[in-house]
Amino acid sequence: MIGKLDLIENEYGAVHLAALPGAYANETMHDSYGRRINYMRISLTDACNLRCVYCMPEQMKFRPRHELMSDEEILFLVRGASLGVNKIRLTGGEPSIRPGVVDWVAAIAQTPGVTDLAMTTNGVLLDKLARPLAAAGLKRVNISIDTLNPEKFNKITRWGAIDDVWRSILAAEEAGLRPVKLNSVVVRNFNDTADMIDLARLTLENEWEVRFIEMMPFGEISDFQQSNVVTFQEMRARIEAVFGPLEEASYDYVDPSRPFRIPGALGTLGFISSVTEPFCQGCGRVRLTADGKLRLCLLRDNEVDLLTPLRAGADFEEMRELMRAGAYHKPWGHGLAQGVFADNRSMNQLGG
Ligand code: 5AD
Ligand code: SF4
Repeated sequence: MIGKLDLIENEYGAVHLAALPGAYANETMHDSYGRRINYMRISLTDACNLRCVYCMPEQMKFRPRHELMSDEEILFLVRGASLGVNKIRLTGGEPSIRPGVVDWVAAIAQTPGVTDLAMTTNGVLLDKLARPLAAAGLKRVNISIDTLNPEKFNKITRWGAIDDVWRSILAAEEAGLRPVKLNSVVVRNFNDTADMIDLARLTLENEWEVRFIEMMPFGEISDFQQSNVVTFQEMRARIEAVFGPLEEASYDYVDPSRPFRIPGALGTLGFISSVTEPFCQGCGRVRLTADGKLRLCLLRDNEVDLLTPLRAGADFEEMRELMRAGAYHKPWGHGLAQGVFADNRSMNQLGG
């Protein structure tokens, strides 16, 4: 549980949040290409209650607790050093398994300058959490669901039950965490045919956004991922073969998902084409990993260690400078086309 929010005190020292100057809500942060960095994805934990095959091995070893940021340290970085970050997404691993997640959301939602707070979750626990999270200030959720077929769902997640996720989707909708977005990573010969069609069909009657994601290569399982990627153009063609030509919905450069609509549908379809048609030019994202590194691009290994200096007693101004300088050096984009893969982390440590 998170304690009193105006004083952050732990074994590494104490910081009075009240003394921090308004979380720099009016500041902005830019990289060397002039992109404004205003979106931070925070991994609350690298652990997860599922074991999706494209994400991690079944016998995954997670980091020991002392290597992860404490509650106080995350809050310090978010509340103090946010430097004009107005959009935050909580990810994992699975963010909902971090103890006190509802308090977390409340604390981050109260950060001056943060106007948009969302969560990416596998939905296993969201049935019970949707309402309290919404009350705490969470605006929206992205729920991962790669297929509606119960056996396949269990196979791809290794430990998951589709009914839990389905209940969570309905609970999220009811709690007002809208628009509910559903994420499906498309894997060749696994969920790239009827599964995609079933998911797309959900948008006919529901105001949801179903997003199909090109599988990205990472570290140890990059060979599998690379040889089983289904491209945006292929996905689109398969869906159009069933539902007819898709209409383009409005395009928001900040969102990597390209929105389309089946004519007459209530919801939308999105395609995230990170591999074949990257959207790096509009990327204002940085990531805070659960072990306290500022990750500048999902698909590049470049990181700035924030936790070590924080624990060594760096003061607030020093931490600000580290973040600002790190963000300035955000790489232009990923190098997948040149065969450059990030391999120092797996997806559960980055949270997508
Ligand atoms: N490529 C694309 N998306 C992935 N995810 C996990 N691994 C990959 C990958 N290799 C997705 C999950 C979840 C989000 C956090 O990232 O399905 O929706
Ligand atoms: Fe867990 Fe998400 Fe990885 Fe699946 S993709 S194992 S739900 S972190």
